[in-house]
Amino acid sequence: MDHFSYEQGRLLCDGVPATGLAERFGTPLYVYCAETIRHHFRQLDSSFRAVGLPPLICYSVKANSNLSVLSLLGELGSGFDVVSGGELRRIREIGGDTSKVVYAGVGKTEEEIALALDAEIRLFNVEAPSELARISRLAVARDRVARVAIRLNPDVDPGTHRYITTGKRENKFGIDRDRARAVLAEAASLPGVEVSGIHVHLGSQITDVDPYVRGVEAVLRFIDSVPGLGEQVRSLDLGGGFGIHYLGEEALPAHCFAEALAPLLKDRPFELILEPGRFIVGNAGVLLTEVITVKRSGERVFAICDAGMNDLLRPSLYDSFHRIVPIEPGEGEPLLTDVVGPICESGDFLGLERELRPLAEGERLAVFGAGAYGFTMAGNYNTRPRAAEVLVDGGEARVVRRRERFEDLIALEREAGEPAG
Ligand code: LLP
Repeated sequence: MDHFSYEQGRLLCDGVPATGLAERFGTPLYVYCAETIRHHFRQLDSSFRAVGLPPLICYSVKANSNLSVLSLLGELGSGFDVVSGGELRRIREIGGDTSKVVYAGVGKTEEEIALALDAEIRLFNVEAPSELARISRLAVARDRVARVAIRLNPDVDPGTHRYITTGKRENKFGIDRDRARAVLAEAASLPGVEVSGIHVHLGSQITDVDPYVRGVEAVLRFIDSVPGLGEQVRSLDLGGGFGIHYLGEEALPAHCFAEALAPLLKDRPFELILEPGRFIVGNAGVLLTEVITVKRSGERVFAICDAGMNDLLRPSLYDSFHRIVPIEPGEGEPLLTDVVGPICESGDFLGLERELRPLAEGERLAVFGAGAYGFTMAGNYNTRPRAAEVLVDGGEARVVRRRERFEDLIALEREAGEPAG
């Protein structure tokens, strides 16, 4: 579900015409719809509440870390899942509640751990035995005991792209079940940590309940197999991964996940933590881009746009599909068109072989499903300033990150010769 609609062939974002936004703010432009973000947050929350599993939703900051998006979620009562000191600092920047922050990540530095200890976050999701000892040492130095969850690698295949599969044995994430037993035993002897939770994250863009059911069954089997662990575990963090619509209506509504998990979890005393990223923001964003050049080469038709893989990397990196639609009506029989970017790489495309009516130079397209892992994965390749971001709320659009300028891009190089840090 989202609040983007077409009226007589014109794209509206929560009632605001996309053409007006492109004219006012320029392209490439990320446009986010606040109401869609709220809708998805509430849908997930109420679906799990309805089955007797009130969740603590810790929005996964990596999906879209814009401060205004984070503030909006903070106002809804969301907690946050962070994976770096930088993401944690964003939460502090918005005055977010750090007691609702969980911190995962396979490579937490001492500096980052110290920052999280000082921010008194809710939980460290521990990904390696040596990390546990490191957290303990730094906590003891502060006269503190850190609450940690063991991130278990449940060895479940979520049936998604291999780059976004995280819960299989061969992935670098989490601790396998046998080693986790040893880690729990070790934790008991470490004065600076208290294991109070178990964490799993299976992967991303999961459009079936089955991997969650198998993941939870594996976690529960593990908990039940370790004497005393059931009493010790206060929270069960199931990670994120809930899929969204990229093609059509392929994603499941949140209540399907809640209803599938309720029979397994309803008699357990754990607080349920969820870390959705894409589910909350993915369908809440579009990337607007202008067609610079239309040309034919051999049998192919290319629409070369002002947004490329530096703005939206997902098609190039994962071969992922994003719907692309002109934002104004037009005429003509559809042609198979490659919608590509301006970057000097053959892998720079937004969508290949799309059935689109003939496109004109100067017209604009919307790339859907761009609210998650769009701007956060953007870069400056080819010295391209990153796009501006706009948030539409209650019929008003406001810039939530201004377009980068060339000066921004070279500012740090002007400091050449200074210390690196
Ligand atoms: N929790 C943990 C521990 C994670 O690693 C992730 C995502 C999430 C939560 C949020 O997952 P979500 O609900 O958004 O699926 N760049 C890729 C996705 C990478 C996801 C990494 N981890 C993409 O564009 O598809």
